[in-house]
Amino acid sequence: MKILVTGGTGYIGSHTVVELQAKGHEVIIIDNLSNSNINVLDAIEKISGIKPEFENFDLADMAKTEDFFQRNNDIDGIIHFAAFKAVGESVDNPLMYYRNNLYSLVNILQGMKDNSIPNLVFSSSCTVYGQPEELPVNEEAPVQKAESPYGNTKQISEEVIFDTTKASDIKAIALRYFNPIGAHESTEIGELPLGVPNNLMPFITQTAIGIREQLSVFGDDYNTPDGTAIRDYIHVVDLAQAHVIAVERMVNKNMKKDFEYFNLGTGNGYSVLEVIKSFEKVSEQKLNYKIVGRRAGDVEQVWADTNFANDELGWKAKKNIDEMTLSAWKWELKLQTEK
Ligand code: UD1
Repeated sequence: MKILVTGGTGYIGSHTVVELQAKGHEVIIIDNLSNSNINVLDAIEKISGIKPEFENFDLADMAKTEDFFQRNNDIDGIIHFAAFKAVGESVDNPLMYYRNNLYSLVNILQGMKDNSIPNLVFSSSCTVYGQPEELPVNEEAPVQKAESPYGNTKQISEEVIFDTTKASDIKAIALRYFNPIGAHESTEIGELPLGVPNNLMPFITQTAIGIREQLSVFGDDYNTPDGTAIRDYIHVVDLAQAHVIAVERMVNKNMKKDFEYFNLGTGNGYSVLEVIKSFEKVSEQKLNYKIVGRRAGDVEQVWADTNFANDELGWKAKKNIDEMTLSAWKWELKLQTEK
């Protein structure tokens, strides 16, 4: 199959490209390198032996997107990762988020419609559930008002896609990620946060290696066993493999509905302190951290009911929390040796 991966030099995108190549699929990447590095293409080639085709432009640019689809109307499926994802930044600059995340989606859907390319896999987020009333949360749980413009772009995108699937031949699968962490076992690709990381795992590894002085644990007064917030961390390679299965399901016409959505998590929740403990165990060192107040917009606890994804996609996350924190640590060590 010929698969377009937007945002293919990014964190989840690059891991997905490698998994697509491993299954024999041909990949074209579009990325404007706004939050990634061109060297990722060489890293992908080191792993798979194949350098993917690459185009550098902004999918929010309608004319360029139209031109791309006219030249590439033989694409079988699209996996759309290209988007901004920093929650705090989206609060400070909502228009930048709405413009980037929504214009690019609309342009892609238009290109798909005009060129009869029917299959879209969309990067969504468990953020659409907010704080669910029941845990684990399944796909039928109500979508709750987004806490940030970033979260809102994911909700609006799902609606834009849903309406488009009703009015055209386009079919789509939205994958609702829980908390992706870790890196490829080759340590050729991984997460490359620009500046101070917002997310827990890169902040832990950067603290351990001495780039950050101390990790702040946001709140220990939650209604959880140790008082810190609980999330469902999933290894990025497990997550990437689900994308390959999803796009194959679409191209092979195995979908049950024109728009399907799946939770991608492990089904296990870990508290912030449990992640730290796992990290300390696998890295054999003490982490410098302190408890501070809660972070605005954080939910208390969320983890996935993965039954639907397990049964329908025939996919299950394999890596446990220690494997995940170890792989994140190996990646940080590798980045350090390159400096
Ligand atoms: C965040 C976003 C979410 C987005 C996801 C991927 C928020 C509120 N949510 O998820 O919408 O889809 O990233 O980009 O930002 N923590 C600390 N100290 C830190 C960093 C994090 O204690 O320095 C805690 C957080 O309070 C949370 C947990 O670690 O309890 C995980 O945080 P994080 O990795 O930022 O992910 P989410 O907030 O779950």
